Amino acid sequence: MNRSILFFLLLLFSHPITSATQDSPVREHLNFDEGWRFHFGHADDPLQDFNYGIPAVFAKAGNGQNTPIAPTFVDTLWRVLDLPHDWAVELPFVYDAHPDIMSHGYKPVGGQFPKTSIGWYRKHFELPASDLGRRLQVQFDGVFRDAEFWLNGFYLGNNESGYLGQVYDITDVANYGGENVLVVRVDARQKEGWFYEGAGIYRHVWLNKYAPIHIAHEGVFVHAEVSSVEAMITVETFVKNEDPKLAKLELETQLRSRAGEVLAKATTTDIPLPDGTEVKVLQEIKLNNPRLWGLDHPYLYRIQVLLKQNGRIIDQQTLRYGLRDIQVKTDGIYLNGEHLKLQGVNCHQDHAGVGSALPDYLQYYRIALLKEMGVNTYRTSHNPPTPELLDACDSLGMLVMDENRLLNTGREHLDQFERLLRRDRSRTCVFMWCIGNEEFGIQQTDYGKRIAQTLVRRQQQLDPTRTCTYASDLANVFRGVNEVIPVRSFNYRHFAVADYHRDHPEQPIIGTEMGSTVSTRGVYTIDSLRGYLPDQDINAPWWASRAEVWWPLAAENDYWLGGFIWTGFDYRGEPTPFSWPNVNSHFGVMDMCGFPKNIYYYYQSWWTDKDVLHVSPHWNWPGREGESIEVWVNSNADAVELFLNDKSLGKKEMPRNSHLKWPVIYQPGELKAVAFKNRRTFSESQRTTGPAVAIQLSPSKTILLADGQDATVINVSVVDAEGRMVPNAQHKIAFEVDGPAQIIGVGNGDPSSHEPDKGLNNIWERSLFNGRCQVILQSENQASEVQFKARAPGLKTGLLYLETN
Ligand code: GAL
Repeated sequence: MNRSILFFLLLLFSHPITSATQDSPVREHLNFDEGWRFHFGHADDPLQDFNYGIPAVFAKAGNGQNTPIAPTFVDTLWRVLDLPHDWAVELPFVYDAHPDIMSHGYKPVGGQFPKTSIGWYRKHFELPASDLGRRLQVQFDGVFRDAEFWLNGFYLGNNESGYLGQVYDITDVANYGGENVLVVRVDARQKEGWFYEGAGIYRHVWLNKYAPIHIAHEGVFVHAEVSSVEAMITVETFVKNEDPKLAKLELETQLRSRAGEVLAKATTTDIPLPDGTEVKVLQEIKLNNPRLWGLDHPYLYRIQVLLKQNGRIIDQQTLRYGLRDIQVKTDGIYLNGEHLKLQGVNCHQDHAGVGSALPDYLQYYRIALLKEMGVNTYRTSHNPPTPELLDACDSLGMLVMDENRLLNTGREHLDQFERLLRRDRSRTCVFMWCIGNEEFGIQQTDYGKRIAQTLVRRQQQLDPTRTCTYASDLANVFRGVNEVIPVRSFNYRHFAVADYHRDHPEQPIIGTEMGSTVSTRGVYTIDSLRGYLPDQDINAPWWASRAEVWWPLAAENDYWLGGFIWTGFDYRGEPTPFSWPNVNSHFGVMDMCGFPKNIYYYYQSWWTDKDVLHVSPHWNWPGREGESIEVWVNSNADAVELFLNDKSLGKKEMPRNSHLKWPVIYQPGELKAVAFKNRRTFSESQRTTGPAVAIQLSPSKTILLADGQDATVINVSVVDAEGRMVPNAQHKIAFEVDGPAQIIGVGNGDPSSHEPDKGLNNIWERSLFNGRCQVILQSENQASEVQFKARAPGLKTGLLYLETN
């Protein structure tokens, strides 16, 4: 190769692509997750975290000598880890009668466990001398909770919220050309919800570097009026001057295709900006024949905002943005002009193995599972979600109801609500805000009404492009919040929806929490000792309903905009209707790992156009020969005929939004359903299996980015000599990895399992629960081959080759 071309290529790749000048990029957004040190606080005495004599509260003012706040503090014995990190999921399960621990999944975090509820994190990092003159900021996307932050001994501030991030300007207290120490104290003694919340720095941390004259943090608000022929895009950019001189600026906003082609732009010149001020620049961009964002074609344009001074780019930010029109009317939601029934799920943010510290890949994995089932809307119950969850929803095409933590207008909570609105208002997927959930002390009162009025007004001011709701657990009750809320929501009380609509026909209605069938994957009896419920749409708590009770109502009445199942996945805590040894909920349509329960096929039948046919239970019932077993068939076919060992047990019409049942006298063999749909047939069987002989591994992908962040989900099952999955196997499987990847969690969806989610001394194992378990594997920073092995005595080892690239 010609030497000068080679030199040019080297130069090109040695500079980040955001580079506007030859020597420094205009804005850097650097991931700061690697290489933290962690230690639990000593919290027997509420004033003293560590036994070093100086209470943390006093140390805020200066350099607390010998406390972890001091830059000189020796932390070499602290544990080294990478974020995101949830220490709650690492702790053993403990029994305690206190109701708080029950909803926290029996993890010893909360007021009664001070020693394991306060944690300290420290990170050492270098800054180049050339950073002097730029603005520096640390960004914490989410810490559970009540975190305090210091850099080089200087107190940066406190963030109470466990769900909203915070940024801190560190320009003045950074050490340029030397070492810096960032310290975070996390206090999870107080809870914010009644569900598993995790503990620690469980979302990403970033270091942002930018010019003194810059685009403000979350300072680009994009919204658009969209039709199929034209989109009028409005971009509101907040520009800030932290430079002593008066600046004359130019702002150029480009609309780019996903591939990067500039399609249109708007330019504003001569923006005068004195030191210490912020200005909002309003720009409009018109696009003809826009490519619309939809659930099946979630096309995202790029909005690139370039801030210029004397013709030179001094800052830039890029947003992914989809053009779509959403109307919320009393007879339905209209997405790009088409009527859309909301087929929603509520979800908390934890997953098997990793607690609330999900690698980004898992967000996509979970959203993809929900889409497969036919879900089109996700409610982030009951808190602001992780930004990467919204990335996944934007990318994969999933609408989001974005939820505020508390119905409260006290200073802290109003501030949290405003931060949520500013953070997420340019999100394509967010179609509605939810200002609160079930504040039963106040929802029916004048307090509730006034608080809601303030929140609704604030929402309209900060985001006039959307509307909001409040999730109330009230029947046909208008007084209080419901008098002033634009969209009336029902948590349960499906029986009162028709009456409410009759009395208040002007208010659109959503079922924010519906369904709530409690079931345990692969279990077919009630086992109150172990805390299991049958895996069918049979049981629901008194305040809730089964799937087949609420969904037909929502499906058949246009005044129901739709509803959200409680819940998409099982989650830690709320083991309703049981308690210890049961440690997680049974509400999920899928379990903690995302393995489908039988009810999944009910929803998939009526929420998708796919050919769905599912027979349950499995057909391994040794010892029950001659007994009657109730067989359920979920399908969206017109009719289904059931056969046992080729003998017909009858053909039945499939009732809409329901299922079919047959009593079948058990004989081992093949239980086969044949579906008749539009003059076609298709079939599905359950077969009696032989004993397990081999381990089977199903990875969600086998090539991972070698970036220390990417992950894959390996689902584990066992098969008999014919290769048929053994549905009731409970083998304990041990896992090994050879190569640059690490197991970061294991799970099996058993709501009463007390096996650790994390490996102990790097020994990783997990029992199958009714035939399945799961491993989450994360890449390291090195590109190579990875070998993954799963072993169990008497079974052929499962072997998988993966690659980090
Ligand atoms: C609702 C509540 C949810 C969950 C659910 C359990 O009242 O909003 O967070 O607790 O009950 O049934």
